[in-house]
Amino acid sequence: MCGIIGIIGTKPVVPLLLDGLKRLEYRGYDSAGIATLVDGGLERRRAQGKLVNLQNRVEEEPISGMTGIGHTRWATHGRPNETNAHPHASDKVSLVHNGIIENFQELRAELDAKGQVFQTETDTEVVVHLITNYLNDGLSPEEAVHTTLKRLEGAFALAIVFAGREDLMIGARRGSPLAVGYGDGEMYLGSDALSLSHLTDQICYLEEGDWVVLDNNGATIRDLAGNLLNREVVQTAVSGAMIGKGQYRHFMQKEIYEQPAVVGDTLHTFFNPLARSIQLPDFPFDLANISRLTIVGCGTASLAGMVAKYWLEQEARQLVEVDIASEFRYREAPLPDNGVSLFISQSGETIDTLAALRYAKEQGQKIISVVNVPESTIARESDMVLPTLAGPEIGVASTKAFTTQLTVLACLAIGIGRAKGTITPEREAELSSALTEIPSRITEILNTDEIIRKISADVSEARDVLYLGRGNLYPMAMEGALKLKEISYIHAEGYAAGEMKHGPIALIDENVPVIACAPSGPMMEKTISNLQEVHARGGQIILFSDEEGVARAGDIAKHSVVLPKVDPFVAPILYALPIQLLAYHTAVLKGTDVDQPRNLAKSVTVE
Ligand code: F6R
Repeated sequence: MCGIIGIIGTKPVVPLLLDGLKRLEYRGYDSAGIATLVDGGLERRRAQGKLVNLQNRVEEEPISGMTGIGHTRWATHGRPNETNAHPHASDKVSLVHNGIIENFQELRAELDAKGQVFQTETDTEVVVHLITNYLNDGLSPEEAVHTTLKRLEGAFALAIVFAGREDLMIGARRGSPLAVGYGDGEMYLGSDALSLSHLTDQICYLEEGDWVVLDNNGATIRDLAGNLLNREVVQTAVSGAMIGKGQYRHFMQKEIYEQPAVVGDTLHTFFNPLARSIQLPDFPFDLANISRLTIVGCGTASLAGMVAKYWLEQEARQLVEVDIASEFRYREAPLPDNGVSLFISQSGETIDTLAALRYAKEQGQKIISVVNVPESTIARESDMVLPTLAGPEIGVASTKAFTTQLTVLACLAIGIGRAKGTITPEREAELSSALTEIPSRITEILNTDEIIRKISADVSEARDVLYLGRGNLYPMAMEGALKLKEISYIHAEGYAAGEMKHGPIALIDENVPVIACAPSGPMMEKTISNLQEVHARGGQIILFSDEEGVARAGDIAKHSVVLPKVDPFVAPILYALPIQLLAYHTAVLKGTDVDQPRNLAKSVTVE
């Protein structure tokens, strides 16, 4: 989280920095700031809250300069106010930081003892003072930064400018992503290629531990020991066009409505509709011989992994373990010979998922990743990348990335099943036809939007909401609760319907909406029985099912939404839609900031 950008330019830099920050706002919106070099001196403008506040600030009090840095903040250390907003600065140095300096307290104590006065509550400020002190000791900017980097622990991406040096910028990457952009007589630093896409398509991704010295004409990259490094410059496919909302009110709504297209596009990468069969790319290992598949992700991505476990176990008889990355990375789990680990991430930068990947690699696992950003760190560190073709997802709540992840994982499950001989040709034909129908089924479900909008009025008044599902719809209950929580701020929990009696049923009363995903199929009868138990205790049931399920539930549901009847295998992909629409409309009614909900950021690059 936090987005950083730096430009050594030949044109007025402020509009370019602000444009870059707009592209980075998904990484945090607690505050924003810029610093530029004006007549050799460092000038800053900062503002609490969203980027628009900074834009207004800069209009009121313009600054000039051709070289500058910018930051969007997701607060870790220190409240999200203007004082704690980046860039942080001394009279000699100004810098922006994404990450956490873990040893900042020791460093702060050391600087305190020397009489240093601190202006902010941030961990970042120690970096400013360390560099400044080394400059005061007579070191060059490069030496001062290099010496400082050796003293820092934790995760960071940094962009640093120096008073009197319009032609110099230094960047560093450890744990948090940083890209170098090459322009015509200009050089750039950015958290991702998107932030630089209005400036250049020539990008070099720094690797762990790299630090880079930029002038107008190029970059010199070194490791921490000071050795010169050669890093490839690639042409990025990320488009420079600013992504708009079109006729939609929110990015989330637009992204929900894009799902028929992006799920279709993703499906066609792995599925040949003419041959009616899955065509996975060649893997650098034998899919028939995976001793155990360990699936890891965070949040919604980990729930996609949970759905995949049902598919892989049932259709491919594959041994699977699923974990959330923040636990997996520290659990020191023993991983088997011939094991494969699969990492799911929209951004491809989530720090816990990346750390889990590195752990699995160290343990000799082959690495597959399912990512939406093909140039991301997770993609680059994988043996095999299975891309989702969701396109840029701007809304903080994941929607189209999730359904495209599920699409890829469904194809993978069928591919592994075929390789292992657990799926008969007849079953594969059934699954294939269910998969090809998904885009048009999603379109049908989008037609229930108005019905779901009306139901959301009830949900918006609730304090607590429960979601229930069984089998491969159990993860969808958890996803429904997560989606509602994060954008409407209503407390929600997702449970396996069969677990209700073991505790959560005590919560049920007439004020608690209970949302059930219960399509007809092998688990329907059991789920309906659980819903009877909810009904008997006055719970308000909102049922997502097909005609058969709705008829079977009779009048126990207060509201029912009739969805198309589909093969139970693909139900999770389709039931994601009503869940997203319900959360969306509830949040709109509650008047929350749907695309940028409080306390969250799109790309979580700190632990
Ligand atoms: C929820 C949501 C998050 C992300 C999680 C992982 O709507 O978006 O739970 O799924 O932060 O992010 P990625 O997929 O970028 O690794």
